[in-house]
Amino acid sequence: MNRIVKKRRLAPNVCEYVVEAPAVAAKAKPGMFIILRVDEEGERIPFTICDFDIAAGTVTVLVQEVGYSTLKLAQVEEGGYIADFVGPLGRPTDLTEYKRICLVGGGIGTAVIYPQAKYLKSIGKSADVIVGARTKDLIMYEDEFRKAAKNLYLTTDDGSYVRKGFVTDVLKEHLEKGEYDCVMAVGPMPMMRAVANLTKEYNVKTVVSMNPLMVDGTGMCGCCRVSVGGKTKYACVDGPEFDGHEIDWAEAMARLGAYKATEKEHVCRLTGEKR
Ligand SMILES: Cc1cc2nc3c(=O)[nH]c(=O)nc-3n(C[C@H](O)[C@H](O)[C@H](O)COP(=O)(O)OP(=O)(O)OC[C@H]3O[C@@H](n4cnc5c(N)ncnc54)[C@H](O)[C@@H]3O)c2cc1C
Ligand code: FES
Repeated sequence: MNRIVKKRRLAPNVCEYVVEAPAVAAKAKPGMFIILRVDEEGERIPFTICDFDIAAGTVTVLVQEVGYSTLKLAQVEEGGYIADFVGPLGRPTDLTEYKRICLVGGGIGTAVIYPQAKYLKSIGKSADVIVGARTKDLIMYEDEFRKAAKNLYLTTDDGSYVRKGFVTDVLKEHLEKGEYDCVMAVGPMPMMRAVANLTKEYNVKTVVSMNPLMVDGTGMCGCCRVSVGGKTKYACVDGPEFDGHEIDWAEAMARLGAYKATEKEHVCRLTGEKR
């Protein structure tokens, strides 16, 4: 059992959870993730390690409520317990060989770029950060990024906050000036694909964090398969971060949506509940 030490709502459908997990915190590195179960019957759901505190023995995750298990998690209050919290899983990201880095986050992708921004600052290599959201209420961690980023650029699709437009609009202006030698983009797949297509024109190394459906998270079930440079990779053990110019985006997007129709129709055999 793992205790939720702190819970904070960041956006209408996103909460930050600070979870007691000393063994995970001790080995966590930016880019890695955990798999949790809300209760003993719960499914295993993966979340990126957004922050960690070795001294306090805590790990922070940002969770967007999109379906059955994330809504179930939203019902657990601060001070409450979840059944388990396993990790750290996946491979850490190392961007330290690059000099001029831009981190681009869309929506919940904030959870992945924040630990990178914080780490790069701690080693004296502060990165530019571009964060985009559909609307003002969905911009998260603005204060945290103001502290961690070299420059912070914000965009909203509807123009309700700072600049109207997409993250790619801002990124393009900087790429035109030759400002970056590495871009890391994390967010919905269409956004990561758009960034990768753009950076390819400028021949700038691009890292993306893939979020395929996962089951075991240990490389055995094959569910999280991604084609990268014509080779089969497993996001849970080989990733979740890969070269954005090498991903087969059409396949990755088709795989993510493969169960959408079934999910809509699914009636749980155990509870009779329609999900
Ligand atoms: C390595 C990794 C890291 C992740 N990090 C985070 C994170 O930091 N914060 C966060 O909020 N979410 C993260 N996710 C996505 C998160 O795991 C899913 O949103 C969650 O499992 C959905 O569970 P559910 O039962 O609530 O939704 P379901 O009822 O299973 O699904 C609801 C809807 O969400 C879609 N969905 C399910 N799983 C995913 C997925 N992996 N990616 C995109 N859409 C999905 C379904 O197709 C469906 O349309 C991550 C996923 C991976 C693989
Ligand atoms: S989740 Fe099973 S192989 Fe990656």
